[in-house]
Amino acid sequence: MLDRIALTLSVNGEPREIRVAPMTTLLEALRTELALTGAKRGCNQGVCGACTVLLDGRPVRGCLTLAVAVGEREVTTVEGLAPPGQLGRVQEALEQVGAVQCGFCTPGIVLALEGLLRETPHPDEDALREALSGNLCRCSGYVKILEGARRAVEAAS
Ligand code: FES
Ligand code: FES
Repeated sequence: MLDRIALTLSVNGEPREIRVAPMTTLLEALRTELALTGAKRGCNQGVCGACTVLLDGRPVRGCLTLAVAVGEREVTTVEGLAPPGQLGRVQEALEQVGAVQCGFCTPGIVLALEGLLRETPHPDEDALREALSGNLCRCSGYVKILEGARRAVEAAS
């Protein structure tokens, strides 16, 4: 077995020291080494978006990103969007319209939208749909999710 590698990741604004095998994904490192279980393991092959986190503010697939490749970039998980017990702007908007059913896909959707809002504060409908196009939800028809996304944009305006 290959030796584990010592890494310091910047996660939700804090330096976090971990030791991982070379092929450990960022998703596995977050969930198993740091007990940050908001990012979910769905397909584990880059299709569903359940593992989405932000790297320097941009959405990435945690299951396709090696922990050793993160370097000094800032990792933001759903746990880092608001202080404990509070909701971030996208979470609040989704909650207000009842856009969560089983919730498995929700952290990835929240981070996909948060990444969009950081890059484009006033996205149009096409941009919202494009941002969500890589996040699969098996429960809903996306009507409520899009309604929540629009509400998040309004709240940010
Ligand atoms: S678990 Fe990463 S895209 Fe599905
Ligand atoms: S709320 Fe269940 S998969 Fe999206």
